[in-house]
Amino acid sequence: MSPASPFDRPSEGPTFSRVGRSYRAPLLVPKFPPEVPFGFLGRLLPTNEPVELTVEAHPIAVANALELVHGARAVAEAELAAGGNGGHTAELEVERASASELGQAVARRTQELWKVGLRFVVGASTRPQVEARRARLRERLAAIGFQSRIPRYEVRAALVPPELSATEPRPAGYWHTLPTDGLAALFPFGDETVIESGGVLLGLALSDASPVFVDRWSHASYSWGLFGTTGSGKTFAAALTLLRSRWLRPDTSVTVLDPLGEYSALVEALGGSVIRVADEGGSRLNPLDPISTFGDRREKAARVGAMMRALFSSLRDEETAELDAAVSQLYDKGPEVPTLGDLRDHVEQRGGGETRLVKLLEVFRSGSLRGLDGLTTARPTESVVSVDLRGVADDHLPFHLTYLLDWAYGRLAHQPGHKLLLVDEAHLLARHASTEEFLDRVVRHVRHFDAGLLVLSQSPDDFLARPAGRSMLRNLYATGFLRLPEVSAETRAFFGLTDAEAEWLPRARLPRETGYSESLWRVGELHLPLAIVASTPEFEFLEANFAPPSGAPEESPSAPKGSL
Ligand SMILES: Nc1ncnc2c1ncn2[C@@H]1O[C@H](COP(=O)(O)OP(=O)(O)O)[C@@H](O)[C@H]1O
Ligand SMILES: [Mg+2]
Repeated sequence: MSPASPFDRPSEGPTFSRVGRSYRAPLLVPKFPPEVPFGFLGRLLPTNEPVELTVEAHPIAVANALELVHGARAVAEAELAAGGNGGHTAELEVERASASELGQAVARRTQELWKVGLRFVVGASTRPQVEARRARLRERLAAIGFQSRIPRYEVRAALVPPELSATEPRPAGYWHTLPTDGLAALFPFGDETVIESGGVLLGLALSDASPVFVDRWSHASYSWGLFGTTGSGKTFAAALTLLRSRWLRPDTSVTVLDPLGEYSALVEALGGSVIRVADEGGSRLNPLDPISTFGDRREKAARVGAMMRALFSSLRDEETAELDAAVSQLYDKGPEVPTLGDLRDHVEQRGGGETRLVKLLEVFRSGSLRGLDGLTTARPTESVVSVDLRGVADDHLPFHLTYLLDWAYGRLAHQPGHKLLLVDEAHLLARHASTEEFLDRVVRHVRHFDAGLLVLSQSPDDFLARPAGRSMLRNLYATGFLRLPEVSAETRAFFGLTDAEAEWLPRARLPRETGYSESLWRVGELHLPLAIVASTPEFEFLEANFAPPSGAPEESPSAPKGSL
């Protein structure tokens, strides 16, 4: 279950901030050693503990930079003239010399000055742990000559995300003035955090086209989310991610829950199989098959309850209770593997006739869902499988997705190796509290089977209204935002988006305009504006195997073709 509501709000101690069981402890470095080697931060940070480093850099206009450098030189000279302040003559000499050297470099434009904001944030799930980790980080910093400082009672000011204007108040030790070389020395680390060896190419930085690789399998959660308006490129980006994931690890198995039937051709092109739910003569997945819960019949009964509520939104409380009771009894006493017809008959027996509930359940016997009444016949053995829901009535989609999620969960639990489960149009599961809770549980538990979800939906707002949805979002390691028509205050606060980011997302360019999609990714604590670009072979392969959603307007035929 998700934590109770008091845990959802960040609370602050004098030296840390806390959300639920996630503690964040900032650390600033007021004083640098006179020289730092390039890439030193990479060696400073542990690979087995979460430490976040934020470096923001703002260029200082040349005229102001020269003024600053001359000012520093004048101060050093004045102090030298006064006989050296407390015996620091040698240090002052160095300062004077480097200020004059820097002044020349700035004047020649070979160096610039930067206003640089720098902070470390240590993460842990308990307070003693976070304090211990920060203490160790301080020791390592001290060992290479950095003076560090805990922003006591200034945690909030230390933790707010960077603003583009760099004018927000920060605790002492946050801001630095550095020449280009000094800033560059901080950089190779920045590279390393987003070039994870063994990772897939997520995209190219919008700022300088540098590639960003993320290794899903090296983080605490293997699940990612992708949000964007219709036509923003979610399905394409997800398909691209699947291709790249399998390219790196060909044994990764993939399951796709495909409400609009867009992935079928791709899955078949990859040698996989497609289960077509609306296809009368096709193979069947029995929604009541307890195999998905390893024969845990009580758990199965609870999931059946959730799927029934997704289907029959008009159920009255007493009908819901009666249906739950009938389902439990069916799993207690009924056949080893019950069918939906069995459920209908059982409800009729208990109620002694044609109640409203029995009439509703008739849909499985003689109505539009009769194709689901029977034992499972689909037993795909391929490592790529999709379930195509094209042709299914809109108001039945949440129901189908729920039992399919249950089935997919069972599949993930049984298969060896790494697994991905893609759920497109996941907002369908956010319509009902019970299905949303189920999705949240799946996202939190699949990690135990070496599996990750790729959750695609139109807006994060779909999931922010309820605790289960927020819990689901919190458990996504990476979240990509493509164009969003608007960014709600809730989304902004939940994901810690800056005003500039929130204002940019409604203007992020669409693939039909540019041939690639513009996106903003939250990877752990990093915020990365990326272009999602396919290489020519990737693009050609996807284009040839991509079915536009049924009924969706055709994309403009003159759209530039995205390729490198
Ligand atoms: N990164 C991309 N590069 C090139 N074309 C893309 C890209 N993303 C999407 N497209 C194209 O744009 C159209 C809409 O993308 P789609 O993934 O279906 O959007 P969504 O799933 O968000 O509704 C598709 O025709 C797709 O081929
Ligand atoms: Mg789509």
